[in-house]
Amino acid sequence: MRGREFNSELRCLFLSKKILIINGPNLNRLGKREPDLYGSSSLNDLEEMLRNEASGFDMELDFFQANVEGAIIDRLHQAESDAAAVIINPGAFTHYSYAIRDAIASIHIPVLEVHISNVHAREEFRSTSVTAPVCAGQISGLGFESYTAGLYYFARRLTNE
Ligand code: DQA
Repeated sequence: MRGREFNSELRCLFLSKKILIINGPNLNRLGKREPDLYGSSSLNDLEEMLRNEASGFDMELDFFQANVEGAIIDRLHQAESDAAAVIINPGAFTHYSYAIRDAIASIHIPVLEVHISNVHAREEFRSTSVTAPVCAGQISGLGFESYTAGLYYFARRLTNE
C-alpha cells in the first residue's frame, strides 16, 4: 500500500493535471436519446461545457467515448500513463461489468463515477453499481453538472497533492 501511495505521488509530480473523461455506451447519443432523462444537449455540448469549466483551473481535459467494453478497458489502462485522474460514466456497464471494475481497480490513479440521471431513483437494476466500490465516489442525478462537480473535486484534490 505504501508503495502504491508513493508511486501515485510521484506520478502527480511529473504528469500534467490532465483529467480523462470517459463516456460509455449510448452516451454518443446524448441529445437524441431519451431527452426526458438525459436532456437535449449532445455529447459535444457536454465536452464544450467541461472545457469551458476546466479553463478556469490549471487542468487539461481529454475525452473518450466508446460503446465497446474492451475499448473502455484499454483506455483505462492507458490512462495510468497519460492522465492524473479519470471521470467515468460507464453507462449500463456500471451495473454489470466486472471487467471494467477490475480495470479501474488495476490502475493507480483516482477514478470518479458519474451519472447524468439519478440511478438510485430508476429501475432497481440501476441502483447497483459494480464499479462504484473501486472508485473514489459516485455522483449521480445532477445532469451534466455531475461531471462539473467531478471536475471541481479533482481540481481541489490534485492541487492539494
Ligand atoms: C447513465 C445511467 C445508466 O443506468 C444508463 O445505462 C446510461 C446512462 C446516466 O448517466 O444516467 O447509459 O449512466
